Amino acid sequence: MTVDSNRTDSTRTAVTVRVPAKVNVQLAVGAARPDGFHDLANVFLAVGLYDEVTVTPADGLRITCSGPDAGEVPLDRSNLAARAAQLLAARYGRGPEVGVHIHIDKDIPVAGGMAGGSADAAGALVACDALWGTGASRDELLALCAELGSDVPFSLVGGAALGTGRGERLRPLEVGGTFHWVFAAAEGGLSTPAVYREFDRLTAGTEVPVPQAAPELLDALWQGDAVALAGALTNDLQPAALSLFPSLARTLAVGRGAGALAGIVSGSGPTTAFLVADEDAGVAVAAALRGSGLCRAVRVTGSPADGATVLPG
Ligand code: C5P
Repeated sequence: MTVDSNRTDSTRTAVTVRVPAKVNVQLAVGAARPDGFHDLANVFLAVGLYDEVTVTPADGLRITCSGPDAGEVPLDRSNLAARAAQLLAARYGRGPEVGVHIHIDKDIPVAGGMAGGSADAAGALVACDALWGTGASRDELLALCAELGSDVPFSLVGGAALGTGRGERLRPLEVGGTFHWVFAAAEGGLSTPAVYREFDRLTAGTEVPVPQAAPELLDALWQGDAVALAGALTNDLQPAALSLFPSLARTLAVGRGAGALAGIVSGSGPTTAFLVADEDAGVAVAAALRGSGLCRAVRVTGSPADGATVLPG
């Protein structure tokens, strides 16, 4: 993570921050809490699919977006990147009217369970912090990230981490090698709250265990052992995502049939993630997924990846 570079360079007129997507290699979900959230044991891994967020001074708050999914991104104040800029401005005495143009160059699938919106929020926060030279500490930025959403702190730090609480309390994890992945974006999105509601419906009347990180999964990450990691991947939201988006079962079967070590729904979906042995296996799995007609876009990439990084200006 290189959040500190260029942080206080007041001569900059534009700052670009690159932020990775994530996959959850374990998503253990507990029972609903009184506040409506769920306690998690959430093992995040940042992957080499990125959004780039560029901020420049402007008269008011303006958001633009480019990339294949740009049409699906809200360009008003409901955009999490806009909320990040407003939150930072309010806390560091730059409000109430925020003067910044936020441009998002989007490569992470929208509403895909890969934390694309969270990535944009973390990117906007780090970029505005650098542009305005607020002098916020990393811990202060992480606290603002947690206010913005459960996955936003991880988008800032990247790498690999265990998230507890609602996913915002992070413990960094060591990863002993590079993993190769294929990601298949589905036609359409899934709403995260709807998937959690479906989880509640499917588990109603059952004893939901307290979520805990699986030692064999943490060990597989630490060893960089793809076969062991494939055997340990779990996602408690997967039955709920499959219930709301039944065609994902066919997508998972196609990827597994083409030689993936394992296939899983990414977070709340509907993107599916396939762990493969190496790049060649990734190319073969990607070809099968593309040929299936079930996916909107298919990407081959590695993990882990750095967190929010200020690009040289
Ligand atoms: O924190 P975030 O805004 O990303 O959460 C979006 C929604 O996902 C929440 O409103 C809630 O419905 C659900 N959620 C949850 N438990 C979590 C994280 C998210 O129920 N730990």
